[in-house]
Amino acid sequence: MSTDVPAKTHKLYIETVGCQMNMLDSEMVVASLRREGYELSDNVGDADTILFNTCSVREQAENKTYSALGRLRAEKKKNPEKIIGVMGCMAQKDQQLIFQRAPYVDIVVGPGQLKEIPCLIRKAREEGGQHTAVGLGRTDGKVDDIKRSHETFDPMRDPTMRPTPFQAFLRIQIGCDKFCTYCIVPMTRGPEQGRDPDMILDEAKILADQGAKEITLLGQTVNSYRHVGLNKTTRLADLLYKLHDINGLERIKFVTSYPKDMDYELLTAVRDLEKCSPYLHVPLQSGSDTVLKRMKRGYTVADYRDMMARINETLGSAAAVSSDFIVGFSGETEDEFQDTVKLVKECRFKNSFIFKYSERPGTKSAERMPDDVPFEVKKRRNNELLDVQNAISEEDNQKFLGETVRVLVEGPSKRSGAKVNERSDKAGLVQLTGRTHCDRIVVFDGNERLVGQTIPVGIFEIAAHTLIGTVITDNASSGQSVTLMG
Ligand code: 5AD
Ligand code: SF4
Repeated sequence: MSTDVPAKTHKLYIETVGCQMNMLDSEMVVASLRREGYELSDNVGDADTILFNTCSVREQAENKTYSALGRLRAEKKKNPEKIIGVMGCMAQKDQQLIFQRAPYVDIVVGPGQLKEIPCLIRKAREEGGQHTAVGLGRTDGKVDDIKRSHETFDPMRDPTMRPTPFQAFLRIQIGCDKFCTYCIVPMTRGPEQGRDPDMILDEAKILADQGAKEITLLGQTVNSYRHVGLNKTTRLADLLYKLHDINGLERIKFVTSYPKDMDYELLTAVRDLEKCSPYLHVPLQSGSDTVLKRMKRGYTVADYRDMMARINETLGSAAAVSSDFIVGFSGETEDEFQDTVKLVKECRFKNSFIFKYSERPGTKSAERMPDDVPFEVKKRRNNELLDVQNAISEEDNQKFLGETVRVLVEGPSKRSGAKVNERSDKAGLVQLTGRTHCDRIVVFDGNERLVGQTIPVGIFEIAAHTLIGTVITDNASSGQSVTLMG
């Protein structure tokens, strides 16, 4: 009889908030811990290791994390052997403050130090005590040392860790050097650094071999990507041409773009490479020159208009542009806000994400400008802009009525359960959701087998953020000419 005692399997619960970068970071951390024998658990009570991957972009996101940590106080008292960790942007920003506000937290790890997580968890478990790994502040050393302390964490990919194996994020750039006055990201994620193109291509090939059909390239200002090699500088357009050659990949997207760096070379690549989605997320933030100046965005409304003209000239009606806005930024007058409304009407974005200004300690605007627009005014401006955007989204979606779009099927929609029960005539079908090449969400009834496939869907109804359609089968589509849009 063997006397070997099997190693104890640890159970990990991880909660992720924030942007796609955070989702990718969590995927990487989970993959690295699984290699150490961890299993994922969706129950805090069951887990012996609890991680929060956090966001600092707005105060509300931080408040939610601190509340979630607060709810663990009693749990940790009952089970002191449980390891609680805070990772991501709030970890980098708040550092020791986290231990002060939640003294039962064991580890605090910034987004540039994620590779330390397995080791720090082990230390906390074996030796006790509180452990921290964070990057250097933007003025806390030599540029190279600061850069090294904000390292990209991209170990071996594990397809089982993604929400769907056929879609993957791929980091091409970390950090940000734009220093918009409201934004905490340059402090939490450190200096802008483009990853080595050979590493990016190798990772893309692995992803394609693992079944990824759609890759979304990630960077805070992804179209500013630059990598200076020994005898060659690589830009995003160069990367796109190379990624396009990888067998198995069907769609390549990139987010988030910076308006000033949306040049013809890149747009031409997007136009000429059929795998590149004609979808561009290029936050404008405000339609007022005076606000843009206070935000230190580095462009004027005229510059943004020129960029829209370049996009329309190069990609034509195929282009789908989306944007972000901050309403109620320091000193924003009603006239300045109305300039934003005007520009939204003019640019006709596919969709916009609208945020109420949230003052972030450590940013230039927090240091130098008052957060003086009352909350109620921010709320009203937010709703007003959203209404304008929604009306435009719905109007522009009309062009899809009666058309057939190609949809990469992502999975059952959130409402799928209800739908099946309601529709006894369609037994066996669920409501599925997917996206067009231009990033529009499509819902339709279909068999779950379709998940992961790219299929034609005929659109018969539209809403502001959704196209509603029906799967076009070979029989239905044969003999009739269908225009493929999106
Ligand atoms: N307050 C509100 N919104 C912000 N964003 C960034 N910083 C802030 C802030 N301090 C928004 C911007 C950005 C998006 C990711 O979050 O619109 O594009
Ligand atoms: Fe923040 Fe501006 Fe950098 Fe975007 S470009 S991450 S808004 S500093």
